[in-house]
Amino acid sequence: MFSREVYIDRREKLKSLIGSGVIILPGNQESPRNYKGNDYNFEQDSSFLYYFGMNIPNLVGVIDVDNNIEYIFGTDFTLDDIVWMGEQKLLKDFAKDSGVDNFIEMSEFDSFAAKLLSEKREVLFLPQYRAETVMQLSKAFKINPFEFDKVTSEKLIKAVVEQRNVKSELEIAEIEKAVNITRAMHLEAMKVVKAGMKEYEVVAVLEAIASKYNTSTSFHTIFTKNGQTLHNHYHGNTLQDGDLVVLDAGARNSEGYCGDMTTSFPVSGKFSEQQKDIYSLLIEMFEKAEELIKPNITYKEVHLEVCKVLAEGMKKRGLMKGDVEKAVKAGAHALFFPHGLGHMLGLDVHDMEGLGENYVGYDKFPRDMQFGLKSLRLARELKPGYVFTVEPGIYFIPELVRRWKEANKFTEFLNYDKIEEFLSFGGMRYEGNFLITENGSRRLGDKMPKYFYEVEECVSKK
Ligand code: GLY
Ligand code: MN
Ligand code: MN
Repeated sequence: MFSREVYIDRREKLKSLIGSGVIILPGNQESPRNYKGNDYNFEQDSSFLYYFGMNIPNLVGVIDVDNNIEYIFGTDFTLDDIVWMGEQKLLKDFAKDSGVDNFIEMSEFDSFAAKLLSEKREVLFLPQYRAETVMQLSKAFKINPFEFDKVTSEKLIKAVVEQRNVKSELEIAEIEKAVNITRAMHLEAMKVVKAGMKEYEVVAVLEAIASKYNTSTSFHTIFTKNGQTLHNHYHGNTLQDGDLVVLDAGARNSEGYCGDMTTSFPVSGKFSEQQKDIYSLLIEMFEKAEELIKPNITYKEVHLEVCKVLAEGMKKRGLMKGDVEKAVKAGAHALFFPHGLGHMLGLDVHDMEGLGENYVGYDKFPRDMQFGLKSLRLARELKPGYVFTVEPGIYFIPELVRRWKEANKFTEFLNYDKIEEFLSFGGMRYEGNFLITENGSRRLGDKMPKYFYEVEECVSKK
């Protein structure tokens, strides 16, 4: 937890952005695995964490903007809890640590809500993603839980996004710590990987690095020799020399900040000539983004320029043809790169995705629904303090190729005969985390292997 002034300042800023009303910010409750009392590892709601800092379940934060009063609702520990869980710092003292003097027992929450309703106060909610939270708020505020989405406040969403999209120095330092743990996870995977191992054995080793730093993973680890499946969570294959693996994994540090990196490397420690060639194009794409990202350019422009590098490269290799600008405008390159170049990164790995991707990643123009572009989560103009991922990929997805060929899609831009020679290639992705500075950008974390020979060096150091 940061110092109380950090949370006081964040709430002051939110109050000035909102102006009036009562903001309700529920924290997460414990989430049961198979019966109440046997829970998943607790993960706090990131907006609650941002404004109150308390990484404790079953709390609700309230910011009464009209009266400039803040409250934490919770169920404070009893003697029974102390018997089962040991001595506990009282929640009311935790609340003081985040600068909130008014701690109220959760048993009072429904009557507190009823009073706000009777006074016809403007009550502001963020979208919710957990059923138990929807039920809790719906019961207290007499909302039909199936229509909870209708009562969420766009004004509040926009204010929270505006504030949280720009990271402070304190936050950047935390993200950088998470990125460096993420880096250590990747380097360890490269170090241990060898033919004969199961994918899950490598996953166990790299996730142990996250545990070693007392962190959790920021999302389900992707580690697969079938990288053409973008979010492949299957870890049951046996690795062989000649396989190329995609590792997309990250750490969420003790303050809740996330890293999110992808590396692609050969199990044997040596890329085949074909793998090396496609990998070099992937890094060209990454470097185009590195070159362009700075304040005032839109991330959509960066994405499209990266797509042009891909199309140009594919044309050079005989897999595409025709006018590159036109091919990218039409979306033909998305056969090989069907996702977006990146997303905001912070307390959530896809930062604030629960508040609505378009609020976070788009502002002045709407999302384009063309295949490929529709998956671009970040498109808006970049500003100093933004932290986000750059993650180009190149994939050969047999079913997608088959369907597009059957439909004669983009035959003026795609050489299907040549593409079919790559159907067993798989896929690769490379991902780094970046900060927009006053006049440019900076990749977060210590140096990562990027060029093929740097990767080979890390893998063959066994
Ligand atoms: N880890 C999922 C992603 O890179 O967006
Ligand atoms: Mn990732
Ligand atoms: Mn990512």
